[in-house]
Amino acid sequence: MLKRTINCADITEKEIGSSVAINGWIQRKRNLGGLLFLDIRDRSGIVQIVLNPDTVNKVLFKKFQTLKTESVVGIKGAVKKRETENPNLKTGKIEIEIETAEIFSEAEDLPFNPFVGQDVDEIVRLRYRYLDLRKPEVRNIFELRAKIVQSIRNYLIQNDFIDIETPILTKSTPEGARDFIVPSRLNKGKFYALPQSPQLFKQILMVGGFEKYFQIARCFRDEDLRQDRQPEFTQIDIEMSFVDQEDIMLLTEGIYKKMFKDVLDTDIVTPFPRIKYAEAMLRYGSDKPDTRFAMEIKDLTGFFKESKFNLIKSSIEKGQKILALFVPGGATLSRKEIDTLKEEVKEQGAAGFLEFKINDGISSSYAKYLSETEKEILLKNGKDNDIALLFIVNKENGFEIVGKIRLFLAKKFNLISKEKWNFIWITDFPFFSFNKEENRYETKHHPFTMPNPEELDKIDGDKDNLHALAYDLALNGNEIGGGSIRIHNPVLQKRVFNAIGLTEQEAEDKFGFLLKALKLGAPPHGGIAFGLDRLVWIISDAKSLRDVIAFPKTTAGISPLTDAPNRVKKEQLDELGVQLKKQDN
Ligand code: AMO
Repeated sequence: MLKRTINCADITEKEIGSSVAINGWIQRKRNLGGLLFLDIRDRSGIVQIVLNPDTVNKVLFKKFQTLKTESVVGIKGAVKKRETENPNLKTGKIEIEIETAEIFSEAEDLPFNPFVGQDVDEIVRLRYRYLDLRKPEVRNIFELRAKIVQSIRNYLIQNDFIDIETPILTKSTPEGARDFIVPSRLNKGKFYALPQSPQLFKQILMVGGFEKYFQIARCFRDEDLRQDRQPEFTQIDIEMSFVDQEDIMLLTEGIYKKMFKDVLDTDIVTPFPRIKYAEAMLRYGSDKPDTRFAMEIKDLTGFFKESKFNLIKSSIEKGQKILALFVPGGATLSRKEIDTLKEEVKEQGAAGFLEFKINDGISSSYAKYLSETEKEILLKNGKDNDIALLFIVNKENGFEIVGKIRLFLAKKFNLISKEKWNFIWITDFPFFSFNKEENRYETKHHPFTMPNPEELDKIDGDKDNLHALAYDLALNGNEIGGGSIRIHNPVLQKRVFNAIGLTEQEAEDKFGFLLKALKLGAPPHGGIAFGLDRLVWIISDAKSLRDVIAFPKTTAGISPLTDAPNRVKKEQLDELGVQLKKQDN
């Protein structure tokens, strides 16, 4: 094999006159004045090769003339100064005049050229993912990902954490999604579940006395895929013994401070701000508030109770709420733009809004229905050049809808500064949430989370007002992590299982091993897990979560590269003792 002596982009004017060997892909070919020019690319970058038919071996020249782009070659030749320099290229002052070459791999016609800005269907891109992976901007994402992991791993190891692997073939570890299940050949009729997270194992490692655990852990969740979800994703998973919520938060802040310094050379401010779940919902309509811009939700229901404006008054009487957003710069919108905005807002789930422009007073076709005090309220909350949007919404989901509109408007009106890294802790989550379809309470975090010890009586009573010792971390409006202090008392754990509708027998069948471990010496413990893919996605500003995963799945859960999932032979199913239903055959 013609082995390289230097990386393509490392060749400089210093090498002029000397002979070098390079290995790489042919990215571009051009014929100019009888000469053949090639751009050769390796991981470091690009260098230009020139073939002169008068001086080079005829067979070699012919061969290179017919070689297609993305063929892989080894080239040896002399470095010379270029006649016309290319200031856009690191190696733009030199070129290599080919002497000998070895063709390692001849490429066929490409399904698409990754190096020209072609509009290619994502499925096709993913089928030939390796073509896109050749692009420096794509590789940069994976270099960033590796650096992030390395920094966090180093920090944890320096802080006495031990990296421990936990099983992939296991029993259900519930995190609120469906399990992926795997049939067992040796135990016909029985199934393993892939872990939704290492949750139960990391707790048992605490019972095992490790005190500080971490793992870069693969998790599997069979759920409806959204923009920020993959069925298979990676967590930075952490658990500690003899700690409280403050200790976990302090560790987390240390991790991110170090990582942002290491990877982006950015100093982030710690401690991160904190907000209670209930307050986050009132101010931002979200449990992962984007605090890079203000435009908080104002609940004006109380002020409009006695309104003469019939539409508002009757809505409040029906139990609806009047929520407002004051959009900076909105006062300049034309009638037509407001109409378009109304349509767009409807798509976010609200019936619409009443608009009031603020500019030296209030101007609006609805202004005549407002009393002077009501106008004062709008003026007091807003500032000149704002448009006040009043949403009439239902109590149950109104804040969430206006929270979504808040984000939509921030993007539309360019209120979000791209340079900001706004972390925020969300604490005091409700312990339970009510599942209307199944008509039962379930835990909002997982069922191993510690309820607020001062509110334990609510487990079997006022469930809606019980809080959890659970915390989420949001970055720029995305949930990047979540954790909790755990229950380490088996009696309390059973009580929670019971409260979410598990009979004693069901609790024993599903989680008997955990309950037993808790009876044999369990330290107080807690932890957190960060979504690595989401973190890389936000930091790299990539378009989609799929862009930061080397071999992602589509929203239909398919890998276009391997065509997984696929059918298996009947014999394989027979061995497993599995029979497909007729319609699935
Ligand atoms: P949780 O379910 O909140 O907690 O998950 C932790 C973090 O993992 C990321 N995440 C995902 N990323 C991509 N695709 C998905 N489908 C997906 N689901 C979750 C999110 C989320 O914040 N065992 C607990 C942690 C603990 O209590 O210690 C857990 O898994 O960024």
